[in-house]
Amino acid sequence: IEEENEDWIKPLIHQSQGAKEFAYCPYSKFRVGAALLAHDGTVFTGCNVENASYNLGLCAERTAIAKAVSGGYRSFKAIAIASDLEDQFVSPCGGCRQFMREFGDHWSVYLSKPDGSYKEMTIEDLLPVSFGPEDLKKKRLFTTKNGS
Ligand code: THU
Repeated sequence: IEEENEDWIKPLIHQSQGAKEFAYCPYSKFRVGAALLAHDGTVFTGCNVENASYNLGLCAERTAIAKAVSGGYRSFKAIAIASDLEDQFVSPCGGCRQFMREFGDHWSVYLSKPDGSYKEMTIEDLLPVSFGPEDLKKKRLFTTKNGS
């Protein structure tokens, strides 16, 4: 079997670091960037976008996914995430794990450090035994007719 060329990983991480520069995080002062790679090679970037009404803030990962989906893309190969954490690979929040999982659980997440080093995980690694869109189609013991 021919080995897959993974020359795109470092550039994707670099793009997530670039996206981090646009982070709007006056409250947490915690900058995050994401770069989402679609199967055709298109990359969608995202940063966290906070709000004076704190609970409305968006994570970088969700910003990137919303950009992609609203542009007609639903099939993803990988997402890279960058933060300023010096000694730790930035880890996506639980809400973002579920948001990513909506589009499959066999694609890759690259958790990175500012020096460009990274750890590769799958969505399934990050969110095992997950609930997804397929579950809504499975046979159920009871079904309601009018939602009542
Ligand atoms: N944040 C992200 O954007 N992505 C992550 O993976 C972790 C957390 C943001 C949310 C908030 O704006 C700030 O980081 C601090 O929690």
